[in-house]
Amino acid sequence: MSVVSLKGIDISYGPVAVVRNLDLEIKSGEFVVLVGPSGCGKSTTLRLIAGLEASQAGEIAIGGRTVNDLDPAKRDVAMVFQNYALFPHMSVADNISFGMRLRGEAPAKVAASVSEVARMVGLQDQLAKRPGALSGGQRQRVALARAIVRKPAVFLFDEPLSNLDAEFRAAMRSELMRLHKELGSTMIYVTHDQVEAMTMGDRIAVLAPLRQAGRSNLMQFGTPDEVYHRPTNLFVAKFIGSPPMNFFKAGAKNGQLVHDRVQLDVTSQLRFPREVAVGIRPEHVQIGGTAAITVDGTLDRIENLGHEKLWFFMTALGRIVARTADYAANHPPGEKVRLALPTTSLHFFDQESGLRIE
Ligand SMILES: Nc1ncnc2c1ncn2[C@@H]1O[C@H](COP(=O)(O)OP(=O)(O)OP(=O)(O)O)[C@@H](O)[C@H]1O
Ligand SMILES: [Mg+2]
Repeated sequence: MSVVSLKGIDISYGPVAVVRNLDLEIKSGEFVVLVGPSGCGKSTTLRLIAGLEASQAGEIAIGGRTVNDLDPAKRDVAMVFQNYALFPHMSVADNISFGMRLRGEAPAKVAASVSEVARMVGLQDQLAKRPGALSGGQRQRVALARAIVRKPAVFLFDEPLSNLDAEFRAAMRSELMRLHKELGSTMIYVTHDQVEAMTMGDRIAVLAPLRQAGRSNLMQFGTPDEVYHRPTNLFVAKFIGSPPMNFFKAGAKNGQLVHDRVQLDVTSQLRFPREVAVGIRPEHVQIGGTAAITVDGTLDRIENLGHEKLWFFMTALGRIVARTADYAANHPPGEKVRLALPTTSLHFFDQESGLRIE
């Protein structure tokens, strides 16, 4: 059963449409990541679920009940923001227990909850401090603890780690994953960082800004493997993956791909349209070797990442990046190398509609 259900959601600010035709069914206990470039409506969608935003059309249901007209406080959701939103004049303990105390819960119960949750997020020694005396990572834990203590059906996170430095982010990321396991709650997590999306999400919803999107902002909703290995359209193929997928344009004649400068021996059962965008991930480009497509490349530059190398080639198909785990490999810039693009690793998209061809 889906615990959060969005059906046919439209959201506009005045005359400007921001979200259109959004359908999303999130299962109980799932960790779902909403990812996409700035302005694609991630925060707006999250705020809609929280009840901080209204939609002009569509239905929002949480736990099987329609909540379109329900107060944020009654929706059984807790939201954690990027900027923490803590009370500066209150101690960590009072920040965590603010809601409970407001509801008039018994002091003994409040104290027990605070200490349990503080232990979960590793704040047990910080409870008397004010937020101003904490590091960014610790403040984010307070915001997290404040959400956990409410025992919501659904957690909503809006870029909660983006104010932390890289090392801390990675640590907090795995801590959040551990909390998700421990609590078993449904979590919806917004980020523009595709690495965060890939590593954290049970499923990933890739959103596009409406001007690039067509019918709906939702470009694909699938597991990390699905969005990476079978992107349903050009937008997802270009957005997920770093460095991004390589692309070149081809035509089609009698079911055969054609290019005016390179021989493409790709015949297939697929029905190719007039203009095809052919994609291949950098890790599938072979330096040397043979395949249905080979193209001569001149090595332009190399990025050495230690555990792997990125090779940037100029070819008759345009710029092609290869990624190899063979860190001992060495080619000097300017060297001419034959690149092989295996057919089984190619992705085909209709250049006009952007849709995957299969
Ligand atoms: N209150 C508002 N009034 C008018 N326009 C708004 C309002 N809130 C958001 N928008 C517009 O709606 C679009 C989507 O905004 P939203 O904040 O949901 O994007 P986002 O995907 O969260 O982006 P970011 O990654 O930058 O946080 C943007 O173009 C933004 O300018
Ligand atoms: Mg946002």
